[in-house]
Amino acid sequence: MFSIGALLTTALAATVAFAKPNPASAPVSPRVLVFTKTEGFRHDSIPTAIEQLRKYGPDYNILFDFSEDATLFSDANMTKYDGVLFVSTSENILDGDQQGVFTKWLQSGGVYSGVHLACGTLQNMTAYKAAVGALFDYHPEQQVATFSPLTKDHPATADMPDQWSYSEEVYFFQSDPREMGATVLVTVDKSKLNNPNDSPDQPDIAGTPHPIAWYIEEPQYNYTLQGAPKHGRSFFTSLGHTNEVWQTDTFMYHVFGGLTWALDGASTRAYQVGIIGNDTTPPPPPPPQPENATSSSSDGTSKADVTKSSASPSFGSAGLLAATFALGAALLL
Ligand SMILES: *[C@@H]1O[C@H](CO)[C@@H](O)[C@H](O)[C@H]1NC(C)=O
Ligand SMILES: *[C@@H]1O[C@H](CO)[C@@H](O)[C@H](O)[C@H]1NC(C)=O
Ligand SMILES: *[C@@H]1O[C@H](CO)[C@@H](O)[C@H](O)[C@H]1NC(C)=O
Ligand SMILES: *[C@@H]1O[C@H](CO)[C@@H](O)[C@H](O)[C@H]1NC(C)=O
Ligand SMILES: *[C@@H]1O[C@H](CO)[C@@H](O)[C@H](O)[C@H]1NC(C)=O
Repeated sequence: MFSIGALLTTALAATVAFAKPNPASAPVSPRVLVFTKTEGFRHDSIPTAIEQLRKYGPDYNILFDFSEDATLFSDANMTKYDGVLFVSTSENILDGDQQGVFTKWLQSGGVYSGVHLACGTLQNMTAYKAAVGALFDYHPEQQVATFSPLTKDHPATADMPDQWSYSEEVYFFQSDPREMGATVLVTVDKSKLNNPNDSPDQPDIAGTPHPIAWYIEEPQYNYTLQGAPKHGRSFFTSLGHTNEVWQTDTFMYHVFGGLTWALDGASTRAYQVGIIGNDTTPPPPPPPQPENATSSSSDGTSKADVTKSSASPSFGSAGLLAATFALGAALLL
């Protein structure tokens, strides 16, 4: 039996739980590129997503740039980003050179986060698959589905109801993200789905419980660029199809919880380490290159070309400036 008092307490507890965003812990705001370029299907919810991210960003100490311009994927342009958030991007949105830049950026500590059809993007790019964890296979018709967090001990699920039912496209994947090091955070009750492609006696190629959202602590980029402390964490959620869900606090807390957790892996300059990201202080000199680093052959990134084109061109100019100053000082004496 429920008393009105108990109901009020529950309502109040819910309000309190939702009241406080958990900002990224970086000393300066991490800068994140929200990328929404599409080549195939384009979601109607993209403008709502942008509007909502713009609205919530400042509460989380995150600076967003919004773009669909693939020319941003040059070493010079990507250097200032701590993270990227791919929102319902689709198909092959970067050319080969841009994919090479993106791979290097990921290997430099760059933080990847993706929402919904982000998993249906760059399917031929090895490092992208390592970032996102699993690629899109198909979805049954949009319908009311019930999602459940597998843990609440993560910022992406801390505020999610135990049973969250709403109308969504439930994604199925080509592989199990756990094979790429993922920890699954959210699952779906498949028994209640109307899905002609799925039967109980058929194994789920995406593993069990069925993955809906997950994180990867150490994405398998296999190679770390000189000066990068480690790989950035990654976070992916397959939710986010409709305008309606983007307008809920529940979903925004899920996305921001995942993104801030990934940034807080502290692999970038907003956290005063590494070679990419927003920073207002001069970077320390890069430590010596670790010996016997293995290159990932698939994208053509090699030790040699990494050393040639620094991920942070500002180092070069700062060094030159210092040298010029020293020379000038010497001449004066
Ligand atoms: C870095 O973050 C600060 C705020 O912490 C902001 O004012 C500045 O514009 C950012 N710079 C870049 C390049 O993102
Ligand atoms: C990215 O950088 C290149 C030069 O490296 C420049 O031509 C281009 O306009 C930049 N793109 C954006 C969107 O700033
Ligand atoms: C990606 O790879 C598949 C299979 O190898 C191929 O059929 C497809 O054309 C490729 N797509 C792009 C955009 O390169
Ligand atoms: C990392 O290595 C694994 C195992 O060899 C390979 O499957 C994967 O494609 C590699 N990842 C990258 C980004 O090269
Ligand atoms: C690097 O690799 C070489 C050849 O495989 C090996 O002899 C050497 O001990 C390795 N060095 C380090 C620091 O692991």
